[in-house]
Amino acid sequence: MVEETPSFTFIVGSQPSALATDVAHLLGCEAVSVRKKTFNDGETRLQLPIAVAGKEVIIFQAIPNHPDAVIFETLRLIDAAKNSDAKSITVAFPCYPYARQDRKLEDGCGLPPKLIAKLLKTAGADRLVTVDIHAPRQIDDFPLSTFNLSTEALFADYLRQRMEKTDEILLFAPDRGALSRVRSLAKILNLEFGWADKQRLVDGTLKLSDFHGNAHGKSVYIIDDRIDTGGTLIAVATRLKQAGAQRIIGIVTHGVTSPTVLERLETAGLDGLVETDTRNVTRDKNFVEVLSVAELLAKKLKSLDKID
Ligand code: R5P
Repeated sequence: MVEETPSFTFIVGSQPSALATDVAHLLGCEAVSVRKKTFNDGETRLQLPIAVAGKEVIIFQAIPNHPDAVIFETLRLIDAAKNSDAKSITVAFPCYPYARQDRKLEDGCGLPPKLIAKLLKTAGADRLVTVDIHAPRQIDDFPLSTFNLSTEALFADYLRQRMEKTDEILLFAPDRGALSRVRSLAKILNLEFGWADKQRLVDGTLKLSDFHGNAHGKSVYIIDDRIDTGGTLIAVATRLKQAGAQRIIGIVTHGVTSPTVLERLETAGLDGLVETDTRNVTRDKNFVEVLSVAELLAKKLKSLDKID
């Protein structure tokens, strides 16, 4: 096993992550990947590639897809670090898995975000760091110290640069969940904002009601925590176009994981998408602009060695 001197030992799961490399670099340490062997029946053997005894261990998992496998891998990495006498264990999930299912929507459903937090704690994690978790209040029920970092300053800086070039900007919340974030950004930037009420029907289709805000002739920025099928952005963009919006750009923290969704957004008339790199998806399209959360994460992780 290789010995390492920086104060953090930075372990990355089996999915490679450019964001992990960037964060580790900012922390002055190396991102080392877990060693993994897969047996014929699909079971795996995981091994920490570095000695962790007495070290502050960060387990970093960007999760573009297959969250169940990544969650189990994370638990096993925590267990391995604990059994190797790590001083402390911090899990960094830039995009917290299952965060949307924070409420019991129907009978017979559980609360997977809280279950995951309980499992992290049980496996031996001391802290959890994430970014723009869906419904931030849910972390109050997590049984381990949880830091939910906000992209507000990152998006505010981005929008300030746009404000220098465009006079008429409207920020837009596609549903009530996004409203507090949009209202706060609008206040910081002294911009107008609008919002819609979104309902997801049983068959998965979206219904928009209570459409507020004057989009006519404006550059409209629709701001949300995440995008999956693109249905939300497309439904809202369609209404905004009808209302006379000149340009429509989506801004989301947790970006698109499927290229077909990007095509759907373009076809639906969006002029661009701004997303962060929390899901570690490589982009090669002009349509998408990526803002990095590497500094945000590194700054918080750096401060954690001073917290017990
Ligand atoms: C839901 O409340 C979230 O904030 C997003 O609006 C939603 O997950 C986006 O999903 P989709 O792109 O499938 O509409």
